[in-house]
Parts: sequence; structure tokens; C-alpha cells
Amino acid sequence: MRLRVYIEDLSKHTGEDVTISGWLYNKRSSGKIRFLIIRDGTGVLQGVLVKANLPEEVFNRFDELTQESSFSMTGAVRKEDRAPGGFEMEVKDVKIISVAQEYPITPKEHGVEFLMDRRHLWLRSSRQHAILRVRHEIIRSIREFFDNRGFTLMDAPIFTPAACEGTSTLFETEYFDLGKAYLTQSGQLYGEAGAMAFGKIYVFGPTFRAEKSKTRRHLTEFWMVEPEVAFNDLNDNMDLAEDFLQHIVGNVLKNRLPELKALERNTAMLENVKAPLPRITYDEAVDILHKKGIAFEWGNDLGGTDETVVSEQFDRPVMVHHYPSAIKAFYMKRDPNNDKLALAVDVLAPEGYGEIIGGSQREDNLDLLLGRIHEHNLPEAAFDWYLDLRKYGSVPHSGFGLGVERTVSWICGLDHVRETIPFARMIYRLNP
Ligand code: 4AD
Ligand code: MG
Repeated sequence: MRLRVYIEDLSKHTGEDVTISGWLYNKRSSGKIRFLIIRDGTGVLQGVLVKANLPEEVFNRFDELTQESSFSMTGAVRKEDRAPGGFEMEVKDVKIISVAQEYPITPKEHGVEFLMDRRHLWLRSSRQHAILRVRHEIIRSIREFFDNRGFTLMDAPIFTPAACEGTSTLFETEYFDLGKAYLTQSGQLYGEAGAMAFGKIYVFGPTFRAEKSKTRRHLTEFWMVEPEVAFNDLNDNMDLAEDFLQHIVGNVLKNRLPELKALERNTAMLENVKAPLPRITYDEAVDILHKKGIAFEWGNDLGGTDETVVSEQFDRPVMVHHYPSAIKAFYMKRDPNNDKLALAVDVLAPEGYGEIIGGSQREDNLDLLLGRIHEHNLPEAAFDWYLDLRKYGSVPHSGFGLGVERTVSWICGLDHVRETIPFARMIYRLNP
């Protein structure tokens, strides 16, 4: 009897006849023995075709199979340490499903733009498998972390009537008779409603920024997870962020080490991601920049290179808190002792990966919040519902957002976020 199995499960089937279905990864021939290497998405397996043991027509199907042709092969599997993947099949039958046309991605070097144009095919390569499996592990760990701590998942809408993170990076669209709608930049404001309803929640979904930035850290569409907790202050927020990062990185090291090895990631820095993480104020970050000879003016936002210089002083992620309120979002609570500062925190990843988390304690006073909405020239009517949260049992509360793609980029040690998501959206890329 034929049993269709996945390559990753072969260790449970040694000695049995099984069928593997997949795509031709490679083939080679040495006369009377031929080798077909099949990939099925879970691994690769070498099939051995011995001329003397096979009907001629089966043996000759080898000639028809081109790179990425789909087919299945059946035979007994045995352990073979010298074969790629550690197993080998003595092939008894080959069934061709579809012969592939000449495949554009060959083992030779291709430029990144060439590969990005063929992203739908590039996903089949082993490097992309490694990255996207780490991404999957990170997303799984994110959910596990919050689910295990009693957070309720709160899905926020993607069409929104107003800005959350400032108006300069909104994508807008017509929305029937209701005028303009905007693609969400962050689910946070809805998350705050959720926190007032459920105590602790997380929003997890795609977010959109019409970023003009063409950097290795910016996408126009990216995934963000945003916990929000009633009664948490800034310090509680930082405690949550550090436990969270430790959980994610710990899981990747535990469950995806082969993938990190395939990416040639040096894991020493990742092993350092353990609470407590260093916490410094914005003022202290500015001191670091000055000591390094950088002419940084107090009050400016930290740019990419500034973040790199600050984070290089530490062997693990560093939390920078108490930023100038003038450069932060309208909803952030001010330091009660210094109105110029916001109770904000950014987490900077080491090795120059920059900001991966942004968060804060929220303004919980109705009048102050209304004043900020006016200062930022935001349309008050669109925020009516948000202001209600300060009218009906307002409490101190805090939260943050972690960008999934920047986190994947850092953990995998990549030089650009474009490979961290199956189909990247950037200022100059909408295809495929
Ligand atoms: O710092 P940001 O803008 O914070 C917020 O949106 C808050 N509402 C979050 C909250 O408190 N609930 O974005 C949070 C994170 C950044 O630290 C970064 O990791 C990621 O989102 N991010 C981007 N990732 C890829 N491309 C972009 N253009 C990004 N912009 C932000
Ligand atoms: Mg930020």
C-alpha cells in the first residue's frame, strides 16, 4: 500500500514504501544510476533510480523532469547520512504531474530586484524557507505569550476615520457616502477601548504607513502586535516588553536553531536577551551620542544612525524612555514632573537594528487629551468615541507596539526587511 508522507516525517517510515509528492530540486546521473532530489516544502529527499531494477519507461522519466517540475516518487526509504536531508529512497515508481518550463531562478547569483520581481517563485528557496519559518515562530510565540497571560485578542479595524500616529503617513481611500477612510497606522486606539472592557488585550494585524522612507527598516504595510493593559504605568509597560522579548527570542533559539544556522546567524547576542534589559532615559541617550562626538540637538528624534550608536553600547536590547513630548504622539501622557517629557518608551535592538518597539503610558485625563487633539490639529469629531474612554471610568493604562518584520530582520540578522514578509510592500514595490 502506498502511503503519502511528508519528508519531515520520514524517520517514522524507514523501511516502508512511501510516496513523496513535490517538485524537482535537482537531479544528476551516473549512467545506470540516477538521482532525483525532490523538495516537498518540509525538506529534500534523494531518490535513487537503478536502471536494472526499473521498467525502462519509469527510468526514462528522469529525462523529462526539469527543475521545479512537479512529480511524485514511490519506494522504500532508508537512513543515509551522506544524502541531503539524511534519508534516501530506492525509487520503484515515478509519476510526473506537470513538467516545468525553463525556471528563471537558477543556482547562479541573481540581483535582489530580479528576485523580488519573482518573489512568488523565490519563496521556494531554502533561505526564504528559513526566514519565513522564523517569522512563523515569532508570530506563534507572540500569541502564546499573551494567550498564556490571560490577554484577550482584540481585532482592530483596518478602515479608520482618523490618524493614530500622525497625519503625514496616511493612505486614504473613498468610502461610499461617508467621505474619506484611512488605512490604519496602528490599532492602538481601539486596543485602549478593549483594555477598558477586558483589562488586558492585544491587537495583532497589518498596519499601513505611507512612509516616504526608502530604508532597510521601512515597509508601507507591516504587521504589528499591540498589547494594552489597564492600570499599567510606564514601568509596568517596560516590564511587560522585556518579558515579551525574552519569550520570543527564547522560543526561536529553542525551536528554530537549524534555520538560524542556515542563515549563518551568530546567536551569541540573541542568547543575551534576558530580563532585566537596560533602561536609559532619552537624556542619557543624548549623553551617549555627545560622548561619541555626534552633534545631536536635544529635542530631536533619534535617527537610524543615532539609534545604532546608542544600541552599540549594549549587548542586548535597550529601552529608552522619557522622550521629549514634542516629538511623540498626541495620546502619550506627559511626565507629571516635567511637561516637556512624555512617558514614552522605545526598545532599540542591538547590532544596529534600531527601534523594534514603541510604546507609552496614555493620557487618561479628558481635558488634557482634548487639548492635545487640538494642538495636533486632529479632527475632534473623529475622536469622540476615544474621548468617551476618559469620561466613563478613566484609568491609567499603557501599551506598546512591536513591529514583526523588524523583529524578524533582527533575529535572522538580515540586512533589509524586504525578505521578512512573504510579499513586501515598499514605496517602489507593489508587485507581485
Ligand atoms: O512606534 P510606532 O509608530 O508605535 C505605534 O504605532 C503605537 N501606536 C504602538 C502602541 O503603543 N500600541 O510603531 C511601533 C513599531 C515600531 O517600533 C517598529 O517596530 C514598527 O512598529 N514600525 C515599522 N515597521 C516596518 N515598517 C515601518 N514603516 C514601520 N513603522 C513602525
Ligand atoms: Mg516609534
